[in-house]
Amino acid sequence: LDLQEALMVREEEACVGCELEAEPGPASPAAIVIFGATGDLAARKIIPALYNLDRSGRFHAASRVIGVGRRPMTTEFFRGSLAESTRGFSHSGFDPAVWAKLAARIDYLEGDMADDKLYSRLAARLVEPGMPPDRIFYLAVGPDQFAPTALALARAGLGSASFSSATERPSSRLVVEKPYGRDLESARALTRFLHEAFAEKDIFRIDHYLGKETVQNLLYLRFANSIFEPLWNRNYIEGVEIEVLETGGIGSRGGYYDGAGAARDMLQNHLVQLLCLTAMEPPSSLDPEALRDEKVKVLRALPRYANEDYLARSVRGRYSAGRSPAGIAIPDYVAEERIRPGSATETYVAVRLELDNWRFAGVPFVLRTGKALDRQVSEIRIHFRQPPQSLFSLPAGETLSRNVLVLRIQPDEGLWLSFNAKVPGQTRVNRSELRFSYREADDYFPEAYERLLDDAIAGDSTLFIRADEAEAAWSLVDGLEAAWRSPGAAKPIDYPAGSAPLPLPGEVVR
Ligand code: BG6
Repeated sequence: LDLQEALMVREEEACVGCELEAEPGPASPAAIVIFGATGDLAARKIIPALYNLDRSGRFHAASRVIGVGRRPMTTEFFRGSLAESTRGFSHSGFDPAVWAKLAARIDYLEGDMADDKLYSRLAARLVEPGMPPDRIFYLAVGPDQFAPTALALARAGLGSASFSSATERPSSRLVVEKPYGRDLESARALTRFLHEAFAEKDIFRIDHYLGKETVQNLLYLRFANSIFEPLWNRNYIEGVEIEVLETGGIGSRGGYYDGAGAARDMLQNHLVQLLCLTAMEPPSSLDPEALRDEKVKVLRALPRYANEDYLARSVRGRYSAGRSPAGIAIPDYVAEERIRPGSATETYVAVRLELDNWRFAGVPFVLRTGKALDRQVSEIRIHFRQPPQSLFSLPAGETLSRNVLVLRIQPDEGLWLSFNAKVPGQTRVNRSELRFSYREADDYFPEAYERLLDDAIAGDSTLFIRADEAEAAWSLVDGLEAAWRSPGAAKPIDYPAGSAPLPLPGEVVR
């Protein structure tokens, strides 16, 4: 072996980055019970994710799916309607042969979720021959049904809280969708109910942003490289912007959305999770508790401001009639379906906060999200400080532009770093970019729910929200909501659909 070959062999043996890259085969078989199986989430996300897991060999051949719904229908009809929706929503296309294999493992169970008899029938179904002993109960239902369903499962002997040992079979896990409460108090109450039925280690609270490849890449970028982390602090970072901007309005979701608003719908969960991953300390391992401990520390470093400070560092808005960038007419928010008369719900929120910790003290983090805006983009922008000395001659009034690292979550997933470079043949400085595009580098791009379902089946809770984390995440939104209800608060600012994001008080739009 010459030296180069020897080095290559050594690298392969050491398997650089193995811990992060190991891809085991399918997790052991499980019976997946989906409550709310005839709803939108099952049709758009859960079943297409199972289809794609199955297609790529990640869904065990002995796994089974039981869809629970109130609507009377046969299993055949249920499978047929899921075939149609999966054809439309699968990101990898639709192969009838692959579908047939999955469909044969899907059954329908009709019943009223408020009736204990449903759960006894389910318990009987789960011990039929061929059913895997491990169970996942997926609550794809409205938040008011989370606690009653979990408690009914426990009454039918299907919860996990009564099992004494971690290895006792069958394993029984609960997957809970958002919203997790509507404030700290209700989140705590929900946790208490869920814990009566399931042990904390068996509760998998979903924030689908954590299933996104580009969001997980934030961890890889920070902790699988040595060049970013030394700069990742108040000495080099001037400010951070975290944005999830959407062009669509609320569509037919008024019934849910009007009681939530942008702060509860997006800020409390997705944006706060992005903040945690951006600002946390390196965890000691990728163990679920190690990672989640670090995220909770960031949440505890969120300051609690006085009402007038929250008002001075936030802006909220609500869209009125306008057009999306594609020219689609969007009605006034209050004219959307199922909006309460006199509603003051916000469809846009931005807030500037500083974390109370050593690494980021004094660094502004701006979190911004809204609907019916002029662009569809989710990204994190890290603005670095200017070089301490200006060596190069610049036209009067100009300064060197700062380095910005942009992590684009969607669309055009990737990242880029802007830097200053010399213009050839001149003494001018020009802003240039190093770019990486995920889509160009990889053709297989799994959807968030695929990863999350795979992990829930394998019992890996790293990318799920722990109870203390879900509760701590309410502190920011509870503070904002209290300020917005205080006497000095103005109503949400009106913005015509298709507008640019509203600036924060005193913010200069560049
Ligand atoms: C959901 C919100 O959690 O996330 C929606 O309820 C929002 O209002 C959606 O549109 C955005 O998710 P994504 O994956 O499309 O960015």
